[in-house]
Amino acid sequence: MLQQHQASTKHGLAAGADHQPERPDWTTDQNWSAYTAQEHGIWKTLFERQSRLLPGRACDEFMRGLQDLPIGPEQIPNFEALSEKLMQRTGWQVVAVPGLVPDDVFFDHLANRRFPAGHFIRKPHELDYLEEPDVFHDVFGHVPMLMNPVMADYLQAYGQGGLRAKALGALDNLARVYWYTVEFGLVQQADGLRIYGAGIASSPAETVFSVEDTSPNRIQFELERVMRTHYRIDDFQETYFVLQHFDDLLNLANIDFAPVYARVAHAPCYEPGDVLPSDKLLHRGTGRYHQHPTHKGKQ
Ligand SMILES: [Fe+2]
Repeated sequence: MLQQHQASTKHGLAAGADHQPERPDWTTDQNWSAYTAQEHGIWKTLFERQSRLLPGRACDEFMRGLQDLPIGPEQIPNFEALSEKLMQRTGWQVVAVPGLVPDDVFFDHLANRRFPAGHFIRKPHELDYLEEPDVFHDVFGHVPMLMNPVMADYLQAYGQGGLRAKALGALDNLARVYWYTVEFGLVQQADGLRIYGAGIASSPAETVFSVEDTSPNRIQFELERVMRTHYRIDDFQETYFVLQHFDDLLNLANIDFAPVYARVAHAPCYEPGDVLPSDKLLHRGTGRYHQHPTHKGKQ
């Protein structure tokens, strides 16, 4: 399990003090030709597993993005080819990084529409759980949503807001918003509850758990509530926050968080499984899973 600081900054909000960067922006070459057949094989296993599970569970925007990108089962995607397609659609690029990068570097990349993706792939014994986001989590989980203009603008705004939040001492609040949207977000679609968060979309077990299991709470997304809610770093979420419309992310991208930080600064935080009288509850979880967790499910 990760230490709290490392884990709370997982998926990019990181302080990778152990790594020395090759370049000031921490990017490196993907070095695509160096991937081995075994590494492409791990990608294939992961890709095929998720491709079976996501139809009917991932949102339309995710499925469309996946379909329109040069991402397939046979090979780890080439970041240059991904970037070419993304650039045409939303002006984003994928850049390779060796692993977690410091907060400032991460925010600067996002603010400039560059998505830093780990270029390594997990080992065969890590198929279901790993501590640092790899190319499968970062590319399969995140990049399809970057084909969508709403997520494209939202993630850029998040990067721009990151440095402001840091200056205001509100990084934990902002990180919770990121966690419960970009990583573990659900959205209500006309035909049901759907996944858009990358942490879910790259995890077979959580793909099913998040939308179908009776154990977790599903609560309508509300910004201040989310900013005050701790999250699970080592297992499935106890609560998922659900957008009514995917376009709600646009509102989040456009509002000034500073007054919200000020309001929540001295308010108590909630535990991951708490349900409040003020919550718009879509499903009250039984809590069964976290009383007797049977396996780790992240990534
Ligand atoms: Fe991530």
